[in-house]
Amino acid sequence: RKKVVRISTGSKQFDSILNGGFQSMSISEVFGEFRCGKTQLSHTMSVVAQLPKELGGAAGRVAYIDTEGTFRPERISQIAERFGIDPDTAQENISYARALNSEHQLELLNTLSQAFVGGEYRLLVIDSIMNCFRVDYCGRGELADRQQKLNQFLMKLAHMAEGEKYYYLRGFLVALADLVWLAEFNVCVLMTNQVQSDPGASALFAGADGRKPVGGHVLAHASTTRVLLRKGRGDERVAKIQDSPDCAEREAIYVITNGGIND
Ligand code: GTP
Ligand code: MG
Repeated sequence: RKKVVRISTGSKQFDSILNGGFQSMSISEVFGEFRCGKTQLSHTMSVVAQLPKELGGAAGRVAYIDTEGTFRPERISQIAERFGIDPDTAQENISYARALNSEHQLELLNTLSQAFVGGEYRLLVIDSIMNCFRVDYCGRGELADRQQKLNQFLMKLAHMAEGEKYYYLRGFLVALADLVWLAEFNVCVLMTNQVQSDPGASALFAGADGRKPVGGHVLAHASTTRVLLRKGRGDERVAKIQDSPDCAEREAIYVITNGGIND
């Protein structure tokens, strides 16, 4: 069995509340209001994941699904410089895809699962998980449909994080329980999420400004670890563990720099 790896966020304080970083074979969710650093964290971790384990990385490739069109290769280069990686190499190690709608988002996942069989990928970023679903199913009567499609996506995602038994048959990827392990993906899934203003939620999510993650119970159950991000004093940002099987509900302060997330 492959060992779980932890990928650093770029901030030592943030890492410490996560017991070292975001875990492979697991789905993590960061949610929070605009400009709290979800996309910057996604960029930072896309570089850090490529670093050797001693430096907080996972020595692997990265897949990046962008649903909001906010991925910036120039930022990857800047962050790579901070960590002493060649900027071009850092970009080449990131397989980028822009999801145009929720169907496409699922298609991308299917394509990626074939790429993951090679075993080189260690991080899958989805920034953000709900955007396409919210656009495609915006009517009130469409909520049940949305949640069903979302669930389908998240189940696939869980398989990809944990690894599946795959058999590659004449160009088709089939999961077959009785065949040899061709891949145990050992991937860290990091998804970002938007928040919804909900005054009633403030009591449940202390410090969350009455904002709660979108996606309902389906998403809540899919994420193993949930982290709330919010603005602090001045340039400071605050990360708070909200729901985790192995981390206490602690807070950490981080900042966003030219080199990405830092202390
Ligand atoms: P939404 O997607 O709008 O919900 O926000 P987000 O949570 O993804 O925020 P994002 O990660 O885009 O963070 C935006 C913040 O990062 C802003 O405060 C920017 O000033 C800061 N930022 C973005 N790029 C840079 C940069 O190159 N250098 C520095 N120092 N800060 C940056
Ligand atoms: Mg963003």
